[in-house]
Amino acid sequence: MKILYGVVVAVLVLVAAAVAYAVSPRALETVERPDSEGLDQETVARGEELAMIGNCADCHTAEGGEPYAGGRAIPTPLGTLYGTNITPDEETGIGAWSAEAFQRAMYRGLDREGNHLYPAFPYHHFTKAAEEDIEAIYTYLMSLEPVRNEAPAHELTFPFNIRPLLAGWKLLYLENERFAGLPDTDEQVNRGAYLVQGLAHCGGCHTPRNALQAEIEDEFLQGEVTENWYAPAIAGEVPAATSWDKEQLNTYLTGQWTERHGVAVGPMAPVAHNLSRVPGEDVAAISAYMATLIESDTGAEAEAEEITAAVGEEPAGDNPGAVIYASACAGCHEGEPARFAAGLQLAYSTSLRIPDPRNLIHIIEQGVQPPEGRPGPYMPGFEGALTQEQMVALTSYLRERFTDLDPWEDLEGAATEIMGSGAAHTAEASHTEE
Ligand code: HEC
Ligand code: HEC
Ligand code: HEC
Repeated sequence: MKILYGVVVAVLVLVAAAVAYAVSPRALETVERPDSEGLDQETVARGEELAMIGNCADCHTAEGGEPYAGGRAIPTPLGTLYGTNITPDEETGIGAWSAEAFQRAMYRGLDREGNHLYPAFPYHHFTKAAEEDIEAIYTYLMSLEPVRNEAPAHELTFPFNIRPLLAGWKLLYLENERFAGLPDTDEQVNRGAYLVQGLAHCGGCHTPRNALQAEIEDEFLQGEVTENWYAPAIAGEVPAATSWDKEQLNTYLTGQWTERHGVAVGPMAPVAHNLSRVPGEDVAAISAYMATLIESDTGAEAEAEEITAAVGEEPAGDNPGAVIYASACAGCHEGEPARFAAGLQLAYSTSLRIPDPRNLIHIIEQGVQPPEGRPGPYMPGFEGALTQEQMVALTSYLRERFTDLDPWEDLEGAATEIMGSGAAHTAEASHTEE
């Protein structure tokens, strides 16, 4: 086995070396950082909105760190990567990058010196964005205060820590092509598709990936694990109990509470928070396009209604999960559904209906908090209040009581992984220095 593995790696290295040689990305000249005073303010403002749609700050800002100065850990199955410093600092950021070098990074995943970049940086989506949008983001980034900060080196497992191998990955999976437009659709849906497939890179979290971490095109937005959460299917048949329409999507995607879908939580929360700060017509376009992808009848609505109607009539029973639910959860989750800050009737929660229990465990552990400084629904976290055994009893009870789906397999394993590690944001990886 070992020998075979070695041979495979050797072949990959040789292929990549040949490709790298043939393509031979060159270093681009350094430039003097553009004077921020001289930048066109309208372009800066537009660039800021586009950067928000692209969630650039989420991956490029460390917890408690300066915006865009890098250092945020991004867990992946192949190890942990760190968002880099993209403030205009000349040494540790991109201050010496020309607009051309920046565009090349966004379209072809190359840094200024010509090194291949990892596709955890979703350039395979950004490559669809128009040149003028990329230019606006560049202008915005150049308008920021330069921050000196060296991001930590990535911690990737062998052989993924060998950058030149990415030449092979790109050969297989990167099409350097701008968004071509959808046939036979109106302008709004087209605009939405442009953003969803490009800058907003929704597929970066919601589309299943193969072993080499490339998104599987035929399974566009069909659900995938991301940052230890599960991003549910949001195209075709979706797990949500009630289907989505344009208006509900628009409400949810701007971080607000929807009566039948709750609020965005986990890694979706910052996405929705960002979208609440961009021009309304862009989110409306995203919602219009998404509504065309989602099958309108989930078939589960009647069932959820029935379950909800039965709540309160049936005795809860003395199953340990039922007892915890009745004392710790029911007070909020069985309230009037339209009450602001009330929790959803749980028969409508997608977290109970997806094939993976981890979102439900995360939500119970962490609760739900609105973004800092904004009003919104609040749920306390139960971290430390429930043992793993109680968590398993509660979550298996919720799945059984509020859905008619099969029990989750390996609920114990998921509870151990999430509650045992304590840190939801650090991935297990053998720490190989780059
Ligand atoms: C999902 C996380 C993620 C998002 C979203 C993201 N990036 Fe990154 N980005 C990364 C990571 C990780 C790297 C480092 C890749 C590497 O070292 O190979 C990176 C690298 C870069 C680089 C190369 C920097 C250098 O010094 O080599 C640029 C430029 C960049 N990102 C710009 C952006 C912009 C602009 C956006 C928003 C439109 C964005 N990124 C969104 C994760 C992300
Ligand atoms: C103080 C009130 C309160 C308590 C107690 C509470 N919740 Fe919540 N819960 C909320 C609010 C508010 C939300 C956010 C709105 C929403 O998404 O429904 C929420 C969200 C949720 C969600 C996500 C719903 C969605 O959007 O898909 C789940 C699942 C959940 N709670 C389960 C529980 C469980 C299980 C318990 C008991 C261990 C519990 N909650 C206790 C108020 C509460
Ligand atoms: C950083 C990863 C990430 C990105 C990027 C992302 N999502 Fe999500 N999304 C998630 C996760 C995780 C959930 C599950 C948590 C929740 O339900 O709030 C989710 C939930 C959702 C839901 C709710 C599904 C349901 O049935 O409850 C919708 C709708 C959605 N995302 C749409 C989008 C759209 C549209 C985009 C692009 C504009 C997008 N997402 C980008 C991670 C992401």
